[in-house]
Amino acid sequence: MQTHIFSTAAQVGQATAMLIAAQLLRKPDSVLGLATGSSPIPTYETLVGMYRTGLLDFSKATSFNLDEYVGIDPHHPCSYHAFMQEHLFSHINIKPENVHIPDGNAEDLTAAAKKYDASILASGGIDLQLLGIGRNGHIGFNEPGDHFVYGCHKVSLSESTIEANKRFFDSVDAVPRHAVSLGIGSIMQARQVLLIATGEDKAEAVRRALEEDVSPQWQASILRTHPDVVFLLDEAAASQLKHR
Ligand code: F6R
Repeated sequence: MQTHIFSTAAQVGQATAMLIAAQLLRKPDSVLGLATGSSPIPTYETLVGMYRTGLLDFSKATSFNLDEYVGIDPHHPCSYHAFMQEHLFSHINIKPENVHIPDGNAEDLTAAAKKYDASILASGGIDLQLLGIGRNGHIGFNEPGDHFVYGCHKVSLSESTIEANKRFFDSVDAVPRHAVSLGIGSIMQARQVLLIATGEDKAEAVRRALEEDVSPQWQASILRTHPDVVFLLDEAAASQLKHR
């Protein structure tokens, strides 16, 4: 495991984009696991810049997003489908047929989740998984609990997540209460994991993940058992770490 601490969130984004770029240069047909939320936006901006200058080519890449809200129209501006279009996919040359995002409107969410895991396996597995972290330590939408869930599944969002994500919606009542998320097992199967955390509101989750016992109460702590994981932090997110 490696931890890198940068002065600013912009630097975290640039460094993360460099690692993703290196992966794509070494393996143009990489399978990328992607995240939404505020944390990866500087990374996506840097990747788009690298694509525009001709440094990167996404034409052979495949992507699988971590999660999507249940019951939200994919065209709704707060859906993760719309987020990915806005921040990455509409700016690069990834093929639409190679892009995968969980379907939060499937009639049978359990069957759709199983199919999602099966398509990841069929693609050869995720080469590089990008993650943010919730204030409560969630990765994907794997919320604090008494166990780790292995596969893609429907989740009830915690009050803390609803509160944190209301900033993207008109009101707290508009935030969906459920989502579909990749499970911890699928995340842990990725060959390489990059976790981005920026801002002081992530400092406790980062400390719990890196310096306390591995526990499903702080789901990101499981990453310490992954053979190839890099935490990319800004000073604010690293501010509670005792061992730097
Ligand atoms: C997003 C996701 C979530 C976010 C986390 C942090 O696809 O899976 O785990 O990474 O909630 O969100 P931000 O970056 O908005 O603070």
